[in-house]
Amino acid sequence: MAASTVSVLGLGEMGAALASAFVSNSHPTTVWNRTVSKATDLVQRGAILASSPAECIRASSELVVVCLVNHDAVKETLLSEATLAALEGKTLVNLTNGTPAQAREMASLVAAHRVEYIHGGIMAVPSMIGTPAAFILYSSSSSTFESVESTLGVLGRVNFVSGEDVGRASLLDMALLSGMYGMFSGAVHAIALAKSSGMPGSEFARDLLVPWLSAMAQSVGRLGQEADEGRYPSGGSGLGMQVAAMPNLVAASREAGVWEGMLLPIMGLMERRVAAGGVHEGLGALVEEMCR
Ligand SMILES: NC(=O)c1ccc[n+]([C@@H]2O[C@H](COP(=O)([O-])OP(=O)(O)OC[C@H]3O[C@@H](n4cnc5c(N)ncnc54)[C@H](OP(=O)(O)O)[C@@H]3O)[C@@H](O)[C@H]2O)c1
Repeated sequence: MAASTVSVLGLGEMGAALASAFVSNSHPTTVWNRTVSKATDLVQRGAILASSPAECIRASSELVVVCLVNHDAVKETLLSEATLAALEGKTLVNLTNGTPAQAREMASLVAAHRVEYIHGGIMAVPSMIGTPAAFILYSSSSSTFESVESTLGVLGRVNFVSGEDVGRASLLDMALLSGMYGMFSGAVHAIALAKSSGMPGSEFARDLLVPWLSAMAQSVGRLGQEADEGRYPSGGSGLGMQVAAMPNLVAASREAGVWEGMLLPIMGLMERRVAAGGVHEGLGALVEEMCR
């Protein structure tokens, strides 16, 4: 069976990687980008360049993927009369980063034009697209998703997050990015501290930081379970002990001339929990504390 036709709007770093994966998997792919020159490589590899979003959309029998910088750019690109008419009867997969409310807004704006809407959250960087290392969260109705699931599978592992809310993939995308930024906040602070002692960042990261963070990542599953159960055993590392140690991290940073600001929010949250009686609880209690 011939691979289905696909349209991709947006050829930034991520959109180009998505279009490239479709081309590599023999899907006849039509592309559009505001800056036309970004299509050159893809066209050389067999993609067809459309001169407008509507022309790009019309080239696909079913699947239209949009991946632009933000929600406003998507609205600007898709919400003209000609573009909405071209979208009628098609499945629009929006892989643009945005909030759950923006996903819901987009779904309702296109629903009036008989467009099946899927909102996605890409958990990958462009070089991972098309490999099993990438996964993409998707929200929509099950029937809409089933019709395009195998085509979307060429982009990376498919993670359909069921539920009525089309904003759910976006919410989980935000949650995962929050986890990632927490890790990188700690990592850049740790590397700055290590370098202040004269240790090369590469050596510190390879020999100490990566093994340490890998070991600590093992307890993240336990935090999730504790949050579900509402019980927060200390596991031998109670918040009272941690609150006593945190000022040392702050003081050591200041002594080393390294900005201590990354530490202050989590330290404040721990202090608040301890003040509320959580001295013998573990870090899982902070999940509850965040929602108070
Ligand atoms: N890169 C990543 O690692 C990564 C990872 C996960 C998710 N994402 C998400 O993927 C989306 C695209 O990211 P990216 O890395 O491709 O960004 P990017 O390289 O900055 O590209 C931005 C894209 O948006 C287009 N654009 C911007 N304003 C526009 C407007 N007013 N009208 C029409 N098109 C407009 C740009 O067109 P021009 O080429 O004409 O400027 C370009 O195609 C974002 O929502 C991002 O958060 C990215």
